[in-house]
Amino acid sequence: MLSSRLLKWYRRHGRTLPWRDHPDAYAVWVSEIMLQQTRVETVIPYFEKWMDLFPDVSSLANAYEQEVLNAWEGLGYYSRARNLHKAAKMVVSNFNGKLPRDLSELRSLPGIGRYTVGAIASMAFGMDEPTLDGNLRRVFARLFDVSDFADSASGEKKLWELAEEHLPKGRAGDYNQALMDLGSTICLPKNPRCLLCPLMEICKAQINGTQDLRPVLKPKKAVPLYIHAAGVILHRKRVLLAQRPADGLLGGMWEFPNGRVNADPAKELPQLLNAIYNLKVKRKEALGIIQHAYTHFKVTVHAFSCDPILIPKNKNLKWVRVSDLNDYPMGKVDRGIANK
Ligand code: ADE
Repeated sequence: MLSSRLLKWYRRHGRTLPWRDHPDAYAVWVSEIMLQQTRVETVIPYFEKWMDLFPDVSSLANAYEQEVLNAWEGLGYYSRARNLHKAAKMVVSNFNGKLPRDLSELRSLPGIGRYTVGAIASMAFGMDEPTLDGNLRRVFARLFDVSDFADSASGEKKLWELAEEHLPKGRAGDYNQALMDLGSTICLPKNPRCLLCPLMEICKAQINGTQDLRPVLKPKKAVPLYIHAAGVILHRKRVLLAQRPADGLLGGMWEFPNGRVNADPAKELPQLLNAIYNLKVKRKEALGIIQHAYTHFKVTVHAFSCDPILIPKNKNLKWVRVSDLNDYPMGKVDRGIANK
């Protein structure tokens, strides 16, 4: 009942997307990783460029990490790109260059969790596997009026069971994608368009009038706000960049030397750069202020041009031609400063 209504709706209203009906599991994999935290409209041009640059697993495995990060720049959550790259190398060395069909082997690859396994298995391999992302969680929480916290272990378990229970045999790929489309075009987080929904008559939340209360999520913690100062240290058409440690936030990417300040970014910058990077600089003028929200904190960065006084050699610091800045992968904040 649920699945037949949904599949009928999907035939008419499903979106045409470049990775759909792609014969290649690699394309499904890449698209699912990109789509994990990013909207479809943003992903499409990145996906197309990616498939030109790295058309198959082995071309990705053979690429340099900096090329991979460059291709990902702007999508955020860069550990996705690093994991995709790492996993491509493992697929080449352990699985003959082909994504394994065995679910636990798939799951063993970096960046592939339960959601991605379900998506790849159903969409690329035609297996009868459920999946559950944020959209599907919301759709099932409404369809079955689930009042548990959707982000708790017991709520998750219930929602996965619902995702599995109604799966139409042999059609799981379309079914899962239909749910994704329903979640992003009809069953919206705010003001769901219930009158257009093919499942309106069987949706328990619609019947009980609880759509706006589902899914139930735990209250979000307030995120801290940090203030940073960054130095754009220029010398003869070159600028000094620092490479971030390989792991963690923006791992392996480049930034203008910077650090957290307590009160006055302009005043604190020189001693800060000295303490963190052992640099001696003279601060010149303010270049602008850039704000960015990461998952767990927000940051406001005050950028200043600086003259170098003493710059010690350091393998994480590099003088880069201003005209080559685009070759160095950066997060949004530093690309914003670079563009200034
Ligand atoms: N979101 C995540 N995966 C998707 C897919 N395959 N189609 C549409 N939206 C998605």
